[in-house]
Amino acid sequence: MSAPQNPDNAAVKRGIVIKDDWPGYSLDLFTYPEHYHSDIENVYIPHGVIMNRIERLARYVMDDFEDTKMTVLCVLKGGYKFCSDLVEYIKTLGRSSNRYLETRVEFIRLKSYLVGKNDQSTEDLHIVGSSDLSFLRGKSVLIVEAIVDTGKTMKALLKYVETFEPKMVKVAGLLVKRVSNMAESLTDYVGFEIPNLFVVGYALDYNEYFRDLNVSPEFAVGAARSVTF
Ligand code: HPA
Ligand code: MG
Repeated sequence: MSAPQNPDNAAVKRGIVIKDDWPGYSLDLFTYPEHYHSDIENVYIPHGVIMNRIERLARYVMDDFEDTKMTVLCVLKGGYKFCSDLVEYIKTLGRSSNRYLETRVEFIRLKSYLVGKNDQSTEDLHIVGSSDLSFLRGKSVLIVEAIVDTGKTMKALLKYVETFEPKMVKVAGLLVKRVSNMAESLTDYVGFEIPNLFVVGYALDYNEYFRDLNVSPEFAVGAARSVTF
């Protein structure tokens, strides 16, 4: 039996498509931190499903990156869990396939949401801390972002990364919101395509709340009941 090949058609590239009317799973079916009880609507994507999907994305990445080395650019803060799990799967696959892809992980912290208006993206790229990405020059780069929303931030980041003349750049987005074609077209590896709703957990926050929401293994991304509490 041969391994599944990389997606080359549009439908597969969209990732797992979650329909507009998906209600999520009832909170009663899972465990989660008690203090978040009144703020979370449902379990939107269980943690195990996220992990399986990330394992599959790792395979796509392995197939596309022909170099022996890859520089991963993790977009903080939301991307840290996705990045860490993706890199782990890439390492595991490398060990079992005898084609070890050496990974160097770098971080960039962006602020694209106005404080207090957490669901409104701004037009510009705001890099927090060092903006020197010269270590990307000539490298095969994988940008890892938890959520690609309008795509504006990713577009600006890609443009900026290109100025350092990497050899190649690909984008992994765990979640891509179905709000613009741009978001989809910029993301090479899509975990899930989701409707335009606000999700939290698995390192995604609302004003720094909820990042810790998968402290129990079943729990991952939940839809926020209210973003104005
Ligand atoms: N949740 C958390 N952070 C985000 C989101 C979201 O739905 N969209 C953009 N940043
Ligand atoms: Mg945030």
